Amino acid sequence: MGVDCVWSFLLLIYCGWFNYYSPVSAVPMHRASEGSVEQFWQLSDLHLDATYHLTDDHTKVCASSKGWNASKPGIYGDFMCDSPYQLILSALNYMKQTEQQASFMIWTGDSPPHVPENELSTEAVINCIGNLTSTILNFFPDIQVFPSLGNHDYWPQDQLPVSVNEVYSAVAKFWKPWLTDEAISTLKKGGFYSQLYKSQTTQQSLRVISLNTNLYYSPNHLTVNMTDPASQFEWLEHTLESSFQKNEKVYIIAHVPIGYLPYARNTTAMRKFYNERLVMLFRKYSSIIAGQFYGHTHRDSLMVLLDEKGIPVNSLFVAPAVTPIKGFPSLDSNNPGIRLYQYDPTDYSVKDLRQYFLNLTEANIEKKPIWKLEYIMTNTYSIQNLQPESLYGLVKQFREQHSKQFQNYYKHFLVSYDSSYVCEGHCKTTHVCAIQYLDEASYTDCITGGVL
Ligand SMILES: *[C@@H]1O[C@H](CO)[C@@H](O)[C@H](O)[C@H]1NC(C)=O
Ligand SMILES: *[C@@H]1O[C@H](CO)[C@@H](O)[C@H](O)[C@H]1NC(C)=O
Ligand SMILES: *[C@@H]1O[C@H](CO)[C@@H](O)[C@H](O)[C@H]1NC(C)=O
Ligand SMILES: *[C@@H]1O[C@H](CO)[C@@H](O)[C@H](O)[C@H]1NC(C)=O
Ligand SMILES: *[C@@H]1O[C@H](CO)[C@@H](O)[C@H](O)[C@H]1NC(C)=O
Ligand SMILES: [Zn+2]
Ligand SMILES: [Zn+2]
Repeated sequence: MGVDCVWSFLLLIYCGWFNYYSPVSAVPMHRASEGSVEQFWQLSDLHLDATYHLTDDHTKVCASSKGWNASKPGIYGDFMCDSPYQLILSALNYMKQTEQQASFMIWTGDSPPHVPENELSTEAVINCIGNLTSTILNFFPDIQVFPSLGNHDYWPQDQLPVSVNEVYSAVAKFWKPWLTDEAISTLKKGGFYSQLYKSQTTQQSLRVISLNTNLYYSPNHLTVNMTDPASQFEWLEHTLESSFQKNEKVYIIAHVPIGYLPYARNTTAMRKFYNERLVMLFRKYSSIIAGQFYGHTHRDSLMVLLDEKGIPVNSLFVAPAVTPIKGFPSLDSNNPGIRLYQYDPTDYSVKDLRQYFLNLTEANIEKKPIWKLEYIMTNTYSIQNLQPESLYGLVKQFREQHSKQFQNYYKHFLVSYDSSYVCEGHCKTTHVCAIQYLDEASYTDCITGGVL
């Protein structure tokens, strides 16, 4: 019970570049070590609610408020609602006009709104994913996009199947502009794929592995008791082994993250069995996995994968949502966020990230979508890069009492929704253990050991 209940309760409802510049240099803000740094975007959890509209009866603003009053509805949305189309357009428009050069984009799922099952259908879900695919293509006709399916990208939600179905076939068609025939073929069968990304500046190639972790998600009844749904584990191990043989680097992208939820004690988003299996696989191939990128929690968080000896071997990133929805009776929420990563194209190691956000309250008051930089990770935490050792060093600082670094991290967790929210004691232990310990044994040690 625990997992499903906590999860639906929490989710449905809720459920620096500067440090590259020499400090004494008078050279202005152009990127140092030019040529050796490239960038990509991550978009996650758009959750388009096409019913969103301004009206005096606040229970009628959006279907996703499920009959509750919207709080302060404005053009760009409301914390009780999923994204109006205007909000999504403003995010894409901002990405386009910042003139940040991105080599590609990852899009980690969840297009449809949080509404009761009978207000959606297979057709509505397909239309919604199709709409957002066309919208992204309209803004970025030339950029390579690597999408992943989310637990809401199916009807009924969470029940993603282990074989061919209408939704996988539809997305395979929608995503043809971005994916190879080989990728399309596994996408149709199991909702996952891998594809090579060839850098135009270096010899080193990158394989993007887009997993369908919704098959492992606790509320998915179709996969209960299956040891290897859609044979994805077998495929993943084979794909990683082949990348290892060919000296490829790998990015893992997926919707539902591995590890423990940062806000719910003793709770993994995936069933524990699948989580343990993934942790083992990612440890085994950590030398070629240059980064892991997830969504789903709607919050901004980090994880560091440690090997059996406790050595940090992988950096994992969970990007916040574009949708600002919270849902009764949850208190906190997130401002809409979009993210840009900076990597070294010689080995695809992650060097930095820029988190952008829309202050939704301000945007609605000003009637202008004023997207801004929220933080640059290396700057805000004074770390060298986002390598596993650097992030691990940072978590050690988080553990200190009244750590300013952790207070800052928690502000970012909510995408600067409200800096008066504090996370101490039980809350902080849950976060700090979830950042470092992804498997059951080490996580339980951390929690019971009372690290803080
Ligand atoms: C919504 O707000 C109206 C006006 O304040 C109030 O009468 C109504 O009870 C509220 N509805 C809900 C579901 O909270
Ligand atoms: C997507 O849906 C929105 C909201 O219903 C609509 O205004 C827009 O025209 C649609 N866009 C595409 C490309 O289908
Ligand atoms: C899963 O396995 C358990 C234990 O063997 C069994 O009680 C349960 O009925 C099975 N569930 C399904 C959906 O097969
Ligand atoms: C964590 O949850 C598992 C069940 O998934 C349970 O067996 C275990 O006792 C729990 N541990 C703690 C510390 O609550
Ligand atoms: C967001 O905007 C509101 C209204 O202008 C303001 O009170 C609040 O401080 C802003 N928050 C941030 C993080 O900038
Ligand atoms: Zn979501
Ligand atoms: Zn999700």
